[in-house]
Amino acid sequence: TTTIRVSPAALGFAAVAHFTGDAVVVPEGYTVTVVTRLGDPLAQGLAAYKNDGTDTDFDKRVGDHHDGLVYFGLSAAGGVDAASSTRGLLVQNHENITQKYLHAAAPSTGARLEAEVVKEMNCHGVSIVEYNDAGGRKWSYNQNSAFNRRITPFTPMDFHGPAAGSAMLRTQYSPEGTRGRGTINNCANGMTGWNTYLTCEENYAGYFRRDVSDDALRTPRELASLRRNGVASRTGSYSWSSANTTNTAIKRWNATISSATATSADDYRYEMNQMGWVVEIDPYNPNSTPRKRTALGRFGHEGAFVRVAADQKVGFYMGDDSGGEYLYKFVSAATWAAADANAADRLAIGDKYMDNGTLYAAVFNPDGTGAWKPLVYGQVPPRAPSTSYPDGYTFADQADICVNTRFAGDAVGATPMDRPEWTTGNPVTGEIYLTLTNNSGRSPTTTNAPNPRSYQNNPGTGSQGNPNGHIVRIREDGDTTSALTFRWDIYMFGVDSTDYPSNPNVNVSGLTPANDFSSPDGAFFSRATNVGGQINPLLWIETDDGAMTDRTNCMLLAALPGHVGDGGAVTIDNGGGNTQGTIVGTKATGANLRRFLVGPVDCEITGIDTTPDGRTMFVGVQHPGDSGTIAAPGGHWPAGQDGTTPTATTRPRSALVVITKNDGGVIGL
Ligand code: FEO
Ligand code: CA
Ligand code: CA
Ligand code: CA
Repeated sequence: TTTIRVSPAALGFAAVAHFTGDAVVVPEGYTVTVVTRLGDPLAQGLAAYKNDGTDTDFDKRVGDHHDGLVYFGLSAAGGVDAASSTRGLLVQNHENITQKYLHAAAPSTGARLEAEVVKEMNCHGVSIVEYNDAGGRKWSYNQNSAFNRRITPFTPMDFHGPAAGSAMLRTQYSPEGTRGRGTINNCANGMTGWNTYLTCEENYAGYFRRDVSDDALRTPRELASLRRNGVASRTGSYSWSSANTTNTAIKRWNATISSATATSADDYRYEMNQMGWVVEIDPYNPNSTPRKRTALGRFGHEGAFVRVAADQKVGFYMGDDSGGEYLYKFVSAATWAAADANAADRLAIGDKYMDNGTLYAAVFNPDGTGAWKPLVYGQVPPRAPSTSYPDGYTFADQADICVNTRFAGDAVGATPMDRPEWTTGNPVTGEIYLTLTNNSGRSPTTTNAPNPRSYQNNPGTGSQGNPNGHIVRIREDGDTTSALTFRWDIYMFGVDSTDYPSNPNVNVSGLTPANDFSSPDGAFFSRATNVGGQINPLLWIETDDGAMTDRTNCMLLAALPGHVGDGGAVTIDNGGGNTQGTIVGTKATGANLRRFLVGPVDCEITGIDTTPDGRTMFVGVQHPGDSGTIAAPGGHWPAGQDGTTPTATTRPRSALVVITKNDGGVIGL
């Protein structure tokens, strides 16, 4: 008989130390290879990236600010081969840009130059790139692949689900409210069980300009919605709408109403409602039109972990990354049918599982139990009046709940969290992990059981709120995606253990310099869950930190995660007489949590996947070296590690790295 263990006895690598240099470092016995970088060409005949600000055609180049990514196996014939570990499509989000490195000189001011705006917009979105292993895990991308594709803020998209066709989605571009232009601020992601990719629109609100005059021309309901979703910028990110252009895909970033009644060709009043969604992409069909899945709600979508299990509904677990926002899940109406994994019309399968179902928001109780509150029209009470929303908000229909999901979360009493980032699930147990990256606004008087820590009155760095973040996990009652109740605990608290070596109110998890981290963001369970007859669900944690970068650059850690309920109750003293009880889980040790990788200067480590055999890992490095100027960049990576030698003015580039084990083994074991 085969012995099945829930995890290996120990992590198979030596911890990487704190590091502040300009490189990606990994444990001894592993190799890092830079494979694609900002600007690398994705079409036949397109010139190599010069990296001096003069490059164009970004709709055919790798975008900027690499974020969530998924590897999709590709067959020799060019179809789905989910088991292929030697040929695949790497689908990757491009969340944002480091604007100064994209132009030859300082970006245009006043009225932005249209060509610069087009370039900046095209650096956002998603890239789909074919990768091949030449043998022995020697990976490179295929510049000429017919599968290569850029999806940008210009790419046509279709709306699906309850909000499609709603008046709130009608625009001059799509008077019927069923189509849209592109995607923006694509942060984390999801992979469905039917071989499609989910890209999640996070901080879309800031890209829209809304002049002060707009307030008076909006209905009270519209104004409340705009406020709740943070559509408040007076310029919009990078002032794109200031360009002198007739291109309405650029002009739409100005959502200001120009008169009370006119719906002129330049009226973009509802364009912001076209963003903030989960978008489904079929990577295997370059001609397919992505579908925005409105049933999954609209908010600052971080990611969407998809749980597919036999005889269950499909579950989608989703964070809303803003201070005090909520955890959501969507549960399909249809029960999973295994044959759908092989369907040819993959987006039609998406229709089946993502257009009909129930959206929920999470309530965490202090006793370690929790409940999913359905966000269903007729069951959700009106959002109560408050100082910020004196009229409250009453929902008109399910489309309204989908567009104004945050109000629905308020109305059902969802628990405000410390910035919900990624979700991921233990493939063996179904336990869901949620990273809570940090929350400067968490005061000792507003702590709650799943967000129990505030530094205000603790001696040390003087940081406010919860600067280092933590990770909550839940186990659905009955281990089913459709459960209405769950149990939870706090798996791990981030901390700078040099500042707080032993303060039990801050370094709650007992971290040391070998495994301390701050601001958890990306989270991922190993794909290779059955290696040598053992079940090995390693948890990988990526950081996006500003609170500990004096000590080390951002990182990737690996963990043997334990299970919900394996810890106990503690009371955290936040000082000044403020205490908060909570339920903690696994205590960190050198054996069950280790730092695996540290990235270059100024970066965030984000995006992670492996080949199905677990022997190649892909990791994204976002905004390296972004602290400097064109004349003196804050860093130069990946130059110095990609076969080129940096000079004093070499511009850094977001890039994707491949990590392999020198003995060909499974990463981390
Ligand atoms: Fe784009 Fe919440 O990180
Ligand atoms: Ca980011
Ligand atoms: Ca993130
Ligand atoms: Ca983040």
